[in-house]
Amino acid sequence: EVFARDLFQAKPTTIDQLVTMTGWVKTIRSGAHVSFLELNDGTDLRNIQVVLSAAELENYQAVIKLNLSATVKVVGQIALTPKAAQPFEIQATAVEVLGQAAADYPLQKKQHSFEFLRTQAHLRPRTATFYAVFKIRSLAAFAIHQFFQERGYVYVNTPIITSSDSEGAGEMFKVSALDFDHLPLTSTGTVDFSKEFFKKATNLTVSGQLPDEGFALAFRNTYTFGPAFRAEDSHTTRHTAEFWMIEPEMAFCDLAEMLQIEEQLIKYVINYLMTKAQPELMLLTEKVDADLIKKLKATTTSDFEVISYDHAIELLQQAPQTFTYPVKWGVALQSEHERYLCEEVYQRPVFVINYPEAIKAFYMRRNDDGKTVAAADLLVPGIGELVGGSQREERPQILSEKIATAGLNPAEYQWYLDLRRYGETSHSGFGLGFERLIMFLTGMTNIRDVIPYPRTPGEAEF
Ligand code: 4AD
Ligand code: MG
Repeated sequence: EVFARDLFQAKPTTIDQLVTMTGWVKTIRSGAHVSFLELNDGTDLRNIQVVLSAAELENYQAVIKLNLSATVKVVGQIALTPKAAQPFEIQATAVEVLGQAAADYPLQKKQHSFEFLRTQAHLRPRTATFYAVFKIRSLAAFAIHQFFQERGYVYVNTPIITSSDSEGAGEMFKVSALDFDHLPLTSTGTVDFSKEFFKKATNLTVSGQLPDEGFALAFRNTYTFGPAFRAEDSHTTRHTAEFWMIEPEMAFCDLAEMLQIEEQLIKYVINYLMTKAQPELMLLTEKVDADLIKKLKATTTSDFEVISYDHAIELLQQAPQTFTYPVKWGVALQSEHERYLCEEVYQRPVFVINYPEAIKAFYMRRNDDGKTVAAADLLVPGIGELVGGSQREERPQILSEKIATAGLNPAEYQWYLDLRRYGETSHSGFGLGFERLIMFLTGMTNIRDVIPYPRTPGEAEF
C-alpha cells in the first residue's frame, strides 16, 4: 500500500508501477466508458486522480455510482501525466468498495459557509480548507516544540486543576466533585469546602505561568504547551472558553531579551511552515486570504516595531478615526485600538511595552517610574493581541504589596514568594495564544475555525 504523501514527495518517474491505495471518494466525474475518481487518503491535502475504465473493472457501474465520502481500496498502475496539474494518476485495475456513504452526506460538492461547517465539526476536517488549517495547527505545534528544544528549554506540564487564579482576573470554571443537588453546607449556609475532594475550592487553570516559574528557576529556561480555560462571557471572533497556550519562562532574562525570543519564535514557525506546509499555505491563499503568503513572508523579513504604551496612547489620540472606546492614559487597549496600531500605523507586528500598573496582572515588574510595569503585548495585523508577557516582579517586598493590592489571599501565594526568597533573579515570560497564532498563520478570521471542537459561551457540541 502506498500513501499520497509519499507519492507527492517521491514524484514518481516510472510508469507501470502497481500500487494499492485506500481512501475516501472526493468526487466522481462519470462517463459511459471512462470515469475519473478523486481519491483522498488522508495523508495529503491533495487528491489522487484515479482513472476508472469500464473495460478494466467488472464492478464499473457500482463504483461510478458511489456517493461522496464512500471508502475504497484501489489497485492500479501509476501513469505519468506531465501536462496535467498533477504529474501522475492511477489507472485502476481493481476497485473494492470498503464502506458506503449515506446519500445525505452533508458536505456535497458545493462550497459551504464556515458557519455551516461549524455545525459539522466532526466532518469539516474532510474539506480542503479545514484539512489545511488543522494540518498547519499540527505542524506549528511541532515547530514550537522544536524551537524551544533546540535552545535547551525544558517542557513543563503544569496542573489543569488548581486552587489559584494566576491572572487574578477571576474568570474561572469551578471544579467540584460534589453532587450539586446535595451540597454539604456549613452552619452559616455556605458550601462546606472541607467536604470537597481537595478540601478547598478549585478551578480549571487560566494559565500555567506561576507553576512554570518555579521550574524556570531550576532549569533556567522552560515552556508549557497546554490548555487554558476562561469563563469570560466574550462573544468575539478571538475568544474561546478553552484554548491552548504556550508559556515560556526565562531566568536571568529581562524584557528586552524576551522580546527578541518572542520575535524569533514567530518567525521560526512561519519559516518552518513555508517549507513543510506549501500546499496548505497555497490553498489557504487561494480560498481564504489572497495576501496570506505575502503577509507571512513580510513578517519573517521585517523587524517587529517596539513602542511604549505612552506612545501608543499618543498615536491613538491623534488617529483620524474615532473609536468606540475613548482613549486616555490609563485605559486598557481594546481590540479596535490594537488593530489600528498594527494595521494602520505600522502594518506589521508591534510590541507595546510598559503598560500602567493598574491595568496589568500583579506579577508584572514595577518600573522605576512607579506607575508602569515591564509588560509587553504583541499586536499583529488581523488579530490584535497575539501574545501577553512581562518581566516578573522579583523583589519580595514589592510582590507582597502587589498581591495584597490585587485582593489576593497572601497565604495562597506564599510558595510563589518563596521563589523570590530563595535566590531571586530577573526573569521574564510570555503567553502565546495558540489559536490566535493559527488564525494569523492561516488567514482564518474566526477562532472557532482554528480549534477542532470549539468551546464558546452557549456552545459545547461534540
Ligand atoms: O494575556 P494573557 O491573559 O496572559 C497570561 O495568561 C499570562 N499568564 C501569560 C504569561 O505571561 N505567561 O493570555 C495570553 C494569551 C493572549 O495574548 C491571547 O493570545 C491568548 O493567550 N488568550 C486567549 N485566546 C483565546 N481565547 C481566550 N479567551 C484567550 N485569553 C487569552
Ligand atoms: Mg493579555
